[in-house]
Amino acid sequence: MTEKKVEIHRGLVGVYFDRSKTTRIDGKQGILEYRGYDIHDLAEKSTFEETSYLLLHGELPTKTQLSEFDKTLKNSREIPDGALDIINSIKDSHPMDVLRTAVSSLSSFDPETSDKSLEATLRKGIRLTAQVPTIVMAHNAIRNGKNPIKPNNNLSHAANFLYMMNGKPPSDLVSNLMDKDFIVHADHGSNASAFAARVSAGTQADLHSAITTGISVLSGPSHGGAAENVMNMVKDVGSPDNAKNYVESLLKSKQRVMGFGHRVYRSEDPRAKHLENGVQMLSKEKGDPSWYEILIAVKDAMEPYRKKGINANVDFYAGVIYHLLGIPTDLFVPIFAVGRIPGWTIQVLEQYENNILLRPLLHYNGEESRPYINIDSR
Ligand code: CMC
Repeated sequence: MTEKKVEIHRGLVGVYFDRSKTTRIDGKQGILEYRGYDIHDLAEKSTFEETSYLLLHGELPTKTQLSEFDKTLKNSREIPDGALDIINSIKDSHPMDVLRTAVSSLSSFDPETSDKSLEATLRKGIRLTAQVPTIVMAHNAIRNGKNPIKPNNNLSHAANFLYMMNGKPPSDLVSNLMDKDFIVHADHGSNASAFAARVSAGTQADLHSAITTGISVLSGPSHGGAAENVMNMVKDVGSPDNAKNYVESLLKSKQRVMGFGHRVYRSEDPRAKHLENGVQMLSKEKGDPSWYEILIAVKDAMEPYRKKGINANVDFYAGVIYHLLGIPTDLFVPIFAVGRIPGWTIQVLEQYENNILLRPLLHYNGEESRPYINIDSR
């Protein structure tokens, strides 16, 4: 059999499949912009609510627009009893599985599920942005035998998320840090989960289907699961003195160091520095620098790999922040999803605006034209 010459782009590496006006990433220079605004400005000066508005509407809001948007988000936080019943019936599953199932179930309760107009999709995206934090924390309460804590509409998106964990409003420092975390996770172009959501939208499936797809794809350790694995790694390392040996033995056995590397960034992941500062501040506030010191020791041990383009990514720092906030390790990936809902929504909206079925080709290189052999003769 002679193999036809075709160009294969495994992993779709380096392939542009469409145009987008939402998020600009320059992996060589370490630039990330939402709608033309630098992630450093947004992380330092904006809020998750404002950044979500920017992503979804394309422009920074006026005071009135922001206040209306915030009101809509706050009024959409509650989830239907039917969804709570579903969460209750699967409460022992991994929080990411529960989140996926609960978001999927919301399609049965949303008044506009089958309306795929751009306006209805935007409204559904805003509702989902508000409801996903409630799902995550309602499940966390239920699995611990407690009643879910109702959302507190006096608190911001980030502060309310943490409030629903234990009924206590977080300090300003903690709330700002959570807000920053959501901002830097809000969108990231054609990452695996957003691409999968676009594939779903490409078939004209509705937003709940597309976001359920995004959540499924985010759950893997190469994508959203890294923060959880970094925390497990940091616990395994145990002390800064052990970091060099630990990293060397991982690399010797061809394993990947979690929280390092990125398909697009060959220089610093621009999101990482904001969370690194956050870990440092939070460690000070909590009087527990040990985890930060281990992170820095692991980073130092990875220094020789910088010239190969392997740097710490956003998830390297996120896990320790969540740990210091008392968040259970298996909620780390769902937190990524909480921040990413506006991003998935805008990716789906862009896909709908100029829709095309995403259907690449697989080059067949198996056997051809074989005669069928009757089962008795095999
Ligand atoms: N540790 C050790 N070596 C690595 C790592 C790592 N974390 N990442 C990449 N490499 C090596 C890889 O083995 C390869 O070496 P060689 O050329 O000798 O075979 C080289 O670097 C190039 O890697 P690549 O295959 O081009 O990387 P990729 O684009 O396929 O993978 C990745 C990107 C994120 C899946 C990978 O870096 C990885 O598995 N990292 C650990 C998991 C992680 O931290 N994921 C979170 C990503 S950030 C959150 C998000 O945006 O989703």
